[in-house]
Amino acid sequence: MIILPHVTDASDLSGKRVLLRLDLNVPIEGGEIRDPYRIEKSLQTLNYLRAQNARIVIISHIGKGDPEDTLAPVARYLNTKFPTTFLSRLESSENERLTKEMEDGDVVIVENLRHSKGEEKNDSQFAAYLATLGDVYVNDAFSVSHRAHASVVGVPALLPHYAGIQIREEVERIAVAFKPARPFLFIVGGAKISTKMPLLKKFIGIADHIFVGGANVNNLLKSKGYEIGTSVYDKDVDGDLTELLESNRLILPIDVVVKNDAGSEVRPVNQVNSGDMIVDIGPETIKYLEGVVGSAQLIVWNGPLGFYEQGFTEATRELISLVSGSRATSLVGGGDTVALIDEMGAIDNFSFVSTGGGAMLDFLANETLPGIEALQK
Ligand code: 3PG
Repeated sequence: MIILPHVTDASDLSGKRVLLRLDLNVPIEGGEIRDPYRIEKSLQTLNYLRAQNARIVIISHIGKGDPEDTLAPVARYLNTKFPTTFLSRLESSENERLTKEMEDGDVVIVENLRHSKGEEKNDSQFAAYLATLGDVYVNDAFSVSHRAHASVVGVPALLPHYAGIQIREEVERIAVAFKPARPFLFIVGGAKISTKMPLLKKFIGIADHIFVGGANVNNLLKSKGYEIGTSVYDKDVDGDLTELLESNRLILPIDVVVKNDAGSEVRPVNQVNSGDMIVDIGPETIKYLEGVVGSAQLIVWNGPLGFYEQGFTEATRELISLVSGSRATSLVGGGDTVALIDEMGAIDNFSFVSTGGGAMLDFLANETLPGIEALQK
C-alpha cells in the first residue's frame, strides 16, 4: 500500500502560498479548450485549498513547450469558476513578489513550465526558482508524475510537500490491479509495444486474460509468423515475445480490419495480404471478447484498439459499450480512449477514469512513479 502525506492532513494552510502542480495539459483548438476534463478533475483540490484560505499558485505544462503553447485559455477557463490571475511570464523576477502580495483564497496561474528548458532537465536552479513561488508544495498531477521533471521531483525536495486529492484517488483506484478480483481482464491498446514490454510481462503473470490491441498487436502477429502487410509495427522490440505468445492468458484477434487499395475490409487474421494494412480489430474478435468481458470481475484498459489517428475507432467503441454494460469494476485511462468514452457519454459507466495515459501504464508496471516517490521523501 502506498502511503502519501495528504493535503487534507496538512495543518493550517491558511495564509500560506501553496505551489500546486496540476496537469492542465488540455487539447486546445483555435485558442479554445476542446476538452476540459483534466481541469474539471483538478477543481476538487483547488476548491479544498480555497476553502482553507490558502493562496494558490498553480504551475502546469501544456503541450511540448513551444512559444505558442500557452496556459492563457486555461487561465480564462478557471476564471469562469473563481477569480484567477494569469502570470504571463514563467520566469520573471516579479513573480515571487506578486505571489507574496496575494490575499488569502487568491488563485494565480503561472505560464507554461515547459517554456523553460530547466523543467524537463530537472535543473536544480529552475526548481529553486519555482520553490520561491510557494511555502508549501502540493502535487495533484498524477498524469505527469511519470516524468522526473523539476516541478514533479525537484520542487518537493525543497518545500514541505503533500499529495492532492486527485492523485491519491488515482493511486488508490489503480492499485486494485495489483490484488485483483478475478477473473481479471487486462486490455492494452495503442502503439510502441517496446515501451510496454515490462508491463505486459508483469501482467501476463497477474491477469487471467490479456487482450492486446492497436499497433501493439501487429508485433505479436508478426512474431507468430502471420503476414501483416504494410501494418505499423514497432521495430525497437528487443528480445522475443515468446513468453507472451505461449501464454494461454493472451487473447489474440480472430479477425482484423485491413485497409488497402480497394478500401477497407474485414479478414480472418491469417488471411492478411502483403498489400494490406491492419487498422482495427474485427467483429468476430469483439464477439469473443463479449464473453470474457461479461464474466470479468475487474477490467483494466489503456489505449485504443484501432488506428485512432486515421479514424478507425469502431472496435474501441464496441468495447466501450460492452465494458459499460458489464458488472465488472472497470478502470480506464489514456487520452484517446477517454476522449472516445467521453464522446459516447459513457464516462459514468466506468468505475474509474484515470487522467493518466503514460503515467497509468508506468504506475501499473512499477507500482510507483517518480512524482509519487518524491512525495514520500
Ligand atoms: C499527458 O498528456 O500525458 C501528460 O500531460 C504528460 O505529457 P507529456 O507526455 O508531454 O509529458
